[in-house]
Amino acid sequence: MIVCSCNALSDRTIEALITRTGACPRRVSDVFESCACRPQCGRCALSIRRLLDERAAATAVDPDYAIAAE
Ligand code: FES
Repeated sequence: MIVCSCNALSDRTIEALITRTGACPRRVSDVFESCACRPQCGRCALSIRRLLDERAAATAVDPDYAIAAE
């Protein structure tokens, strides 16, 4: 699915970026920079933010598990 129509960035492109770098971009601007493009209209910012948040939540350590493992 195309997330950013101005730059033809798909959700798969962004997921691949996150996976390839191994370090989840923290900011929407990091995604544009990593993809060698720039925001134009900005309509995609919330969608990109949501993708980043979902990835961050999926890779976060469960605090209850971390305490139990100690
Ligand atoms: S849709 Fe992403 S900058 Fe326009």
